Amino acid sequence: MLTNLAVRDIETLIHPYTNLATHREVGPLVLERGKGVFVYDTAGKDYIEGMAGLWCTSLGYSNDELAETAYEQLKKLPFTHIFSGRSHDPAIELAEKLKEIAPVPISKVFYGSAGSDANDTQVKLVWYMNNALGRPQKKKIISRLKGYHGVTVASASLTGLPANHTDFDLPLPGILHTSCPHHYRFAHPGESELDFSVRLAAELDEMIQREGPDTVAAFIAEPVMGAGGAVTPPEGYFEAINAVLAKYDILFISDEVITGFGRTGEMFGTTTYKMNADTLSCAKALTSAYFPLSAVMVSEPVYQVLVDQSRKIGTFGHGNTYAGHPVGCAVAVKTLEIYQRDKIIERVRQVSPKFLARLGKLAEHPLVGEARGVGLIGGIELVKDKASKAQFEAKKAVAAKSVSFAQEEGVILRAMGGDRVAFCPPLVISEAEIDEMFDRYERALGKTLDWVKAEGLLAA
Ligand SMILES: Cc1ncc(COP(=O)(O)O)c(C=O)c1O
Repeated sequence: MLTNLAVRDIETLIHPYTNLATHREVGPLVLERGKGVFVYDTAGKDYIEGMAGLWCTSLGYSNDELAETAYEQLKKLPFTHIFSGRSHDPAIELAEKLKEIAPVPISKVFYGSAGSDANDTQVKLVWYMNNALGRPQKKKIISRLKGYHGVTVASASLTGLPANHTDFDLPLPGILHTSCPHHYRFAHPGESELDFSVRLAAELDEMIQREGPDTVAAFIAEPVMGAGGAVTPPEGYFEAINAVLAKYDILFISDEVITGFGRTGEMFGTTTYKMNADTLSCAKALTSAYFPLSAVMVSEPVYQVLVDQSRKIGTFGHGNTYAGHPVGCAVAVKTLEIYQRDKIIERVRQVSPKFLARLGKLAEHPLVGEARGVGLIGGIELVKDKASKAQFEAKKAVAAKSVSFAQEEGVILRAMGGDRVAFCPPLVISEAEIDEMFDRYERALGKTLDWVKAEGLLAA
């Protein structure tokens, strides 16, 4: 029985990333409030937010300090833009802080509102820079199959997932996708992680050779693949990739939109995985999701090209109204201050062993083929047969079913293609709450197994 709010929702909203036909039947989950790692629906039922919203509410819900910071800034200066050389204190202070904590030498920060527009900015900077450098043929950008970089025209092109391309007339020409570094699913039988990494780097090398190294400008990767399945890279992967990119003078863009600010147990995933990145995109946990804000961080050589262009052609013609929004920047400054004051990275390192142990234990379940993570992010894969890694038919949506059982049990998780389920709780989660989250999901897995059997989906 749909509530009044649910009916109004169905009659008014187009939901992102939702099966719009099914939504008309099942309606929304309407959340009303949150506290710590819990959110509550309109009937008062509690859920552990096992996905930190969309990999973003790192400090959990109803953080008074962040709310008060936003309120104070709203009263003082709710808006000013930073076009035409205008500025304000929070934008400057935040850029200084980001430069201080960046995992690679960073010279300047360019603000946006979301991860998608940050990656669109990256694409435009690559094109603009190579025109400025007199190499207009060096424009192609290589991303990875199952990589996720957003939904705007360029960033959706970078994204390597069919749902973001089919019938959207994407990807744009000049955006290519190399192999997905998911060892469990794509390694040859008996191939070690290291050998798999070396093979993938060789495949990237071949792609660059085939396209012509003079035409390839940049490579983009997430330290840990998020929406493509919460996939941690295999051993030696980024070391091997670094070497290929260096060989052909290809800019390395690290998409830290999920992994930035402690998620992997380091401030940035770029550090965790030794990525020799030139530029970074971040968003989400930059403000603990209390305000939409993203940042592109660039090196001095990239910045110098932009300044030289301005000497030649004048205005740097890029930027949107809310770039460097004072409320977002003030909230981000406070968020970074809290990460530091409350030693959030140490905290992640303290609770991560419990998180990874409970995640790993899921692999004992008959439906779980792989369970793997880092810091406070992890993914599992549900399979029909563990020995052969045989998958269920995609249209049976077994992972999605397990996530709906999880919701019944009071934990919010995310199902993704290939029957993967992601775990990415707020970084402030306690060990007891980690246990509670996995207890709830284990009950959901039990229900999933019963359902799979009842539907006759298991291998004979
Ligand atoms: C790695 C990565 N990049 C970019 C994006 C796009 O960010 P947004 O949804 O804020 O546009 C996401 C979103 O989940 C992401 O995970």
